[in-house]
Amino acid sequence: MEISGQLAIVTGGSSGLGAATAEALAARGAEVAIFDFDGARAAGMAERLGARAYTVDVGDAEATGKTVAQAVAEASRPLRIVVNCAGIADAARVVGRDGVPSVALFERVIRVNLIGSFNVMAHGVAAMLAQDTDAGGERGVVINTSSAAWQDGQVGQAAYAASKGGVAALSLPVARDLARHAIRCVAIAPGLFETPMMAALPAEVTQAITANIPHPARLGKPAEFALMVAQIIENPYLNGTTIRLDGAARLPPK
Ligand SMILES: NC(=O)c1ccc[n+]([C@@H]2O[C@H](COP(=O)([O-])OP(=O)(O)OC[C@H]3O[C@@H](n4cnc5c(N)ncnc54)[C@H](O)[C@@H]3O)[C@@H](O)[C@H]2O)c1
Repeated sequence: MEISGQLAIVTGGSSGLGAATAEALAARGAEVAIFDFDGARAAGMAERLGARAYTVDVGDAEATGKTVAQAVAEASRPLRIVVNCAGIADAARVVGRDGVPSVALFERVIRVNLIGSFNVMAHGVAAMLAQDTDAGGERGVVINTSSAAWQDGQVGQAAYAASKGGVAALSLPVARDLARHAIRCVAIAPGLFETPMMAALPAEVTQAITANIPHPARLGKPAEFALMVAQIIENPYLNGTTIRLDGAARLPPK
C-alpha cells in the first residue's frame, strides 16, 4: 500500500520508536495523527512534523474510541494505517522483596500494552470499514509493537513479556478475521533500541545488553524500526506474522 496520501495514527508518537515512525510516515507523505499520553510532547512533535496531536490514554477504551473518531473527522485523508507504539516497560518480580505480589503492576502493563493496542486497532479498523479499498485493493494495515521479550522475557518481565506475547499472538487471528475486508495485521518484535525507555537504564546494564547483540553490535536505531514499519505498509504480502528486528540478539535471563 502507498504511504503517501493516507491518514496514519501512530500511538506513542511523541517519543522513541513512535516518534521515529511518525517522522518517517510524514516524510513519505502521510497525514499523521499522533496519539500520546504526554499531550505537551505530542503537540511539540506534531508541530515539527506538520501533524496533529491527540492526548489520550490508549488503555481507556471509551476515550480511545472518541479520539479515533475525532482524528478521522479532522483528517482530509482516509485512515488506512494504524501503528501502535504506546507502551510501558514497568518490571517487577512476581513477589517483591517486601513480600507483596506484583498484581497491580501486572494489570497496568497488560492494560496499556495489550488492551491499549487492541483498543486503538479495533476503533481504527471500525473507521477503515467505512471506507472503500484503495487502487491496489487494500483497505488498511495495522502494525503493533511486540518485543523480543515475548520470546526471551527476562527476570522481572513477566507482565511485559505477557503483554507483548499477547500482541504477537493476535497478529494471525486478526489477519484472518480482517482478510475479507482487505486489512492486514503485522507485529514487529524489536530487540533493544536506543530510545528514552532504554536511556533510563544504568550504563552497565546497557553495556551488558549490547554484549549480547551479535551484529550489528549496537542498539537498534529508531529510524530502523520506522523503516520496518514503512516496508510492512508497502509490501502487500506481509500479513499475520510477528517480525523480530533485533540484530540476532537473544536476551539472557537477566
Ligand atoms: N526501546 C526498546 O528497546 C524496545 C524494545 C522492544 C519493544 N519496545 C516497545 O516499543 C514501544 C515504544 O517504545 P519506546 O522505547 O519508543 O518507548 P518510549 O517510552 O520512548 O515511548 C513510549 C510512548 O508511549 C506513550 N505512552 C505510554 N503509555 C501510554 C498510554 N497509556 N496511552 C498513550 N500513550 C502512552 C509515552 O508517553 C511515550 O511517548 C513500546 O511498546 C515498547 O514496549 C521498545
